[in-house]
Amino acid sequence: MENNTATKTILSGIQPTNNLTLGNYIGAMKNFVNLQDKYPDYTKNYIIVDLHALTVPQVPSELRSRTYSMLALYLAIGLDPEKSNIFVQSHITGHTELTWILNTLTGMGQLNRMTQFKDKSAKEGTFINVGLYAYPVLMAADILLYNANLIPIGEDQKQHLELARDLAAKFNHTYSPTFNIPDPIIPKQGARIMDLQNPENKMSKSAISPKGTIILTEDLNITAKKIKSAVTDSGTDIVYDPNNPEKAGINNLLTIYSTLTDTEIPKIEEKYVNSGYGDFKKDLAEIVVETLRPIKEKHDEFLKNKDHLDQILKASAANVQKSAYKILSKVYKKVGLVAPLR
Ligand code: TYM
Repeated sequence: MENNTATKTILSGIQPTNNLTLGNYIGAMKNFVNLQDKYPDYTKNYIIVDLHALTVPQVPSELRSRTYSMLALYLAIGLDPEKSNIFVQSHITGHTELTWILNTLTGMGQLNRMTQFKDKSAKEGTFINVGLYAYPVLMAADILLYNANLIPIGEDQKQHLELARDLAAKFNHTYSPTFNIPDPIIPKQGARIMDLQNPENKMSKSAISPKGTIILTEDLNITAKKIKSAVTDSGTDIVYDPNNPEKAGINNLLTIYSTLTDTEIPKIEEKYVNSGYGDFKKDLAEIVVETLRPIKEKHDEFLKNKDHLDQILKASAANVQKSAYKILSKVYKKVGLVAPLR
C-alpha cells in the first residue's frame, strides 16, 4: 500500500486530565515500555494529548502543570526519549487540521454510538460541548497523522480505535489508499482495572470515589490504605471467578497482583490457598507500593528540571513534525485543496 513506510509505528496517547491512575499504568503505560523494548526498530510515538483534555473543563494552570507531570511520569516508568518520541499534541501542526478533514467523513450516527460520550456527557450536565462529541475524530487524527500501525490501549478505547479504523478505510476508499488500518494492542489481563470501592466501575481519573482510585503520584501510605480497604465480598477464598459479579472486587485485586508481579493467577491462588482476604490485601498493598515507589521518586526528580523536560518535548516534536506535514499535505492534495503557496 502506498505510504507504507519502511518502519512501522507504535502510537498511543494519554490525556493530562486529573492525575493518572493505576488503571492507566496497568492498562496502557506498562505496555508502552514493554513495546519500546520489544520493537526496537519501530517508530514509537507517545503523546500527551492536551487538546483532548480541553473537552472537559480545566483550570489552565493545572492543565499546564499536569502536562509536565505526565511527561515526568512517562520518563519515570522507563520511556526513553532516545527510543520513543514523547511529545505534546498541541505542539504539532496537523492533529486539528486532519481532524477537520476526517470530520467531513464521519457520520453523526457513528459518534452518537460512542459509549464514552454518553457517559461523559451525562456527567457534564446541561452544557455539552462539541469538542466532547467530536473527540473520537481527534483521536483518529492522532493515529492517522503518523500512519500508525499498532495502538496500545486499555479496553475503554476499543470503540474509539474502531472508529479510527473505519475512517482510515473510508478515506482510502473515497480517495485512494493512504492510511494503514491501525490495530489495537489490548492487554489480555488488566485492560480494565476496576475501582477499589465500586468494582463494577472502571478505575478512572475522574472517579467520584477517591478511595477507590490509586493515583500514581500520591502518598504511598494512602495507596497502601486504599488497597487494604478495597471492597471484597463476604466469602473467604482467594479465587478468580470472572463469571460471578459478586467476586468483582477480589477478581480485580487478583488482576492487579498478577499484572504487577507477572505471575499467572492460578499460581497466586495456590500461594494463598490457606490465607484470607486480609493477608492477601496486605501483600498486595506492599506490591503496589513497591511498584509505585521508584516511579514516584523518579517522577519527582524529573519534575525538578523543567529545562530538561522542555528539551525532550522540543526534540521529539522536531522528530515527528516532518512526517506529520508529509501526511497532511498528501491528504490535502487528495481531497482537492490547492497546495499552500509558501
Ligand atoms: P485516557 O487518557 O482516558 O487513558 C489512557 C489510557 O489508559 C487506559 N485506561 C485504563 N486501562 C485499564 N484500566 C483502567 N481503569 C483504565 N483507565 C484508562 C485507556 O484505555 C488508555 O489506553 N482517548 C484516549 C487518549 C488518546 C489516544 C490517542 C490513545 C488520544 N489519542 C491515540 C491512543 C491513540 C484517552 O482518553 O485515554
